[in-house]
Amino acid sequence: MTAPRARLAVLASGGGSNLQAILDHFAALGASAPGDVVLVVSDRAAAGALDRARRAGIPTVHLPARENHRLLERLTEAGVTHVALAGYLRLIPTDVVAAFRGRLVNIHPALLPAFGGPGMYGHHVHEAVVRAGAATTGATVHFVDEHYDEGAVIAQRAVPVRPTDDADTVAARVLAVEHQLYPRCVAALCAGALRLEAGRVVADPSLSFERFVSADASPPHPA
Ligand code: GRF
Repeated sequence: MTAPRARLAVLASGGGSNLQAILDHFAALGASAPGDVVLVVSDRAAAGALDRARRAGIPTVHLPARENHRLLERLTEAGVTHVALAGYLRLIPTDVVAAFRGRLVNIHPALLPAFGGPGMYGHHVHEAVVRAGAATTGATVHFVDEHYDEGAVIAQRAVPVRPTDDADTVAARVLAVEHQLYPRCVAALCAGALRLEAGRVVADPSLSFERFVSADASPPHPA
């Protein structure tokens, strides 16, 4: 029996390059894609993510901060089964976390639990990495729970931080890795090959998860 196709919502506040990476990956999978992006939500009317969605013919919702409590309603009326946060700056209401537990994921632009938590988003993360003199940073895909950046980690990939780097160069290096890592994790989630069981991540052995999601902390590029 084949699993029903996932109906994925992507929530984004910014330019939407991770949304684009997901769209491109699902398009490349063609008929074997495990689902469809059926909704893009943004709290910012001017978000580039909304433009990308419109160009791809995907329904969009602009949900300003004062209407954040209506997120579950909007997801439900669109028949959403899975949610991927991609640079979404609003706190996810607890009713959404509860309704989508195990089907709600986020990407964070650092190696959690380092450089995570309240206030650690966007450029703040990369500035903190440079300020700390960290030798390594990276991207983390994780399930979302009620606390910022604390849900079970699905996958991480590391990149080096070089002495000449600033927050911009680190951000660009991490973003390139995000675009590789996130779409594959989201596809695996939609396929039912990644699950949250008793607070732990369980990956289907048939997934060959290690092939594309390396927990290996070694840098993908020579330093
Ligand atoms: C990414 O670095 C993501 O990890 C972070 O915000 C950024 C969003 O970039 N949470 P984009 O909007 O996907 O281009």
